[in-house]
Amino acid sequence: MGKAITAILIGAGNRGMDVYGNYAIKYPEKLKFVAVAEPIKFRKEKFAHLHNIPKNRTFNSWEEILAEHKLADVAFICTQDQMHVEPTLDALDKGYNVLLEKPMAHTLEGCIKIIQKVKETNKILGISHVLRYTNFFSTIKDTILKGDLGDIINISHRENISWYHIAHSFVRGNWRNVELSSPMILQKCCHDLDLLFWIIGAKSRKISSFGGLKHFIPSNAPNGSPNFCVEGCPIEKTCLYYAPRIYIDIVPIIQILEKSNQLGFKILANLRKKHVRLLTALSKLVKILQRLRYWREWPVEPIYSGIPEEISEDYSDETKMRILKTSPYGRCVYKCDNNVVDHQVVNIEFENNVTASLIMHGFSEREGRTLRIDGTKATLVGKFSDSGQEITLFDHFSGKKHKIFSQKLTINNSGHGGGDFALVDAFLGTLLQNESQPLTNAHDSLESHLMAFAANESRLQGKVVNMDDYRKLE
Ligand SMILES: NC(=O)c1ccc[n+]([C@@H]2O[C@H](COP(=O)([O-])OP(=O)(O)OC[C@H]3O[C@@H](n4cnc5c(N)ncnc54)[C@H](O)[C@@H]3O)[C@@H](O)[C@H]2O)c1
Repeated sequence: MGKAITAILIGAGNRGMDVYGNYAIKYPEKLKFVAVAEPIKFRKEKFAHLHNIPKNRTFNSWEEILAEHKLADVAFICTQDQMHVEPTLDALDKGYNVLLEKPMAHTLEGCIKIIQKVKETNKILGISHVLRYTNFFSTIKDTILKGDLGDIINISHRENISWYHIAHSFVRGNWRNVELSSPMILQKCCHDLDLLFWIIGAKSRKISSFGGLKHFIPSNAPNGSPNFCVEGCPIEKTCLYYAPRIYIDIVPIIQILEKSNQLGFKILANLRKKHVRLLTALSKLVKILQRLRYWREWPVEPIYSGIPEEISEDYSDETKMRILKTSPYGRCVYKCDNNVVDHQVVNIEFENNVTASLIMHGFSEREGRTLRIDGTKATLVGKFSDSGQEITLFDHFSGKKHKIFSQKLTINNSGHGGGDFALVDAFLGTLLQNESQPLTNAHDSLESHLMAFAANESRLQGKVVNMDDYRKLE
């Protein structure tokens, strides 16, 4: 590869900083960020520092950065769900190619505007449906294309959101409220709906859906519970969602390590869980252990947004405790302003007569997707979780089973089972090879978004949505 592709970053949060930023740090020969727009000062300055961006190339908003002349080849747009459409239209108009976070837009109208603008400007735009780029899902796609399953008849797909992820993101966090963000079936499952569309290879014909918000509601709040966990909650010792358990004791991270079934990770989990004082002492000698002792990555990092600068780099237990006294992430999960669902099922009939069901819920013991594809020649069963991945094929004729893919937990910089970095590789490849659009382009992404909007409508209105009628809205 020749000279690195240059980029601007809009939104230096979790995705911008930790995924695309880390990619550029790991592969400086491929990608170089030359400017950043981010209103939170410490994020903006941290990103600028990490990428050697001069001060006059740092901006407080997408409006400011896009008011400049074109500064690079690509704009990475990593703002929150309701801030995708305007910066994307503006960036395309300015001549940038765009990598846009999913969901493409939180309304159908927004999706259409983006698709039209891509056509009009002839620029390249990729949507961050990272799962298509994982070895796991591309193995499934290849297995189907090879014909090993025969004709696909039915897919049963589950998005098992862990108990801690739903509490963090969809009860206390950024995606808790549909008016502030987007419907959860779009926000969380546009990936899954996109995978179903891709794997099945046909558009949807009919959709029905049920679901709602069952658990994270005020009537489930324990008697005498305060608004914030650390204000003396009577059940703090036994509550699954007690905020210091999640952000200070990092129980989610410990559980991921424990469930990886790898001895090294289990030892680390045990050290963090049962021997914190020893780990504290060891981390003074062995610097690498500081990562585990003073965890600062997801889910901890978001609790630091909006806190005073003087404590923004202090990840001690005491500081986290102080933050949790007022942070949205310190709230009792039964007393938040959340209104997105905590479980939803979607039934889909596709135009090639394949049927599929998608189940999404937030009460899983571990984070991950599971799926079963039944075809005329074989059944495929897959498990894609953050503690390991596996695909098994059960052949009908021979009665034999074959493990066709497995991957253990790895600690690297690429999340989503390697999909995050693979997506960037593929996007940059599209630019370098002058291809028209990447695999996950706006036009194809519309299909998953349409399915999500239709599922939401079906759930709310108690009706089967005929997608032909729905498409007329396009
Ligand atoms: N592809 C995936 O698998 C995946 C995974 C997680 C999140 N996402 C999506 O990525 C997007 C970003 O998520 P995140 O977790 O990084 O969120 P985040 O809140 O951590 O980051 C968003 C950043 O945008 C900044 N911002 C706010 N207003 C701005 C403005 N006017 N101009 C520039 N920046 C502004 C915020 O300060 C924040 O730092 C969301 O749409 C989310 O749904 C995608």
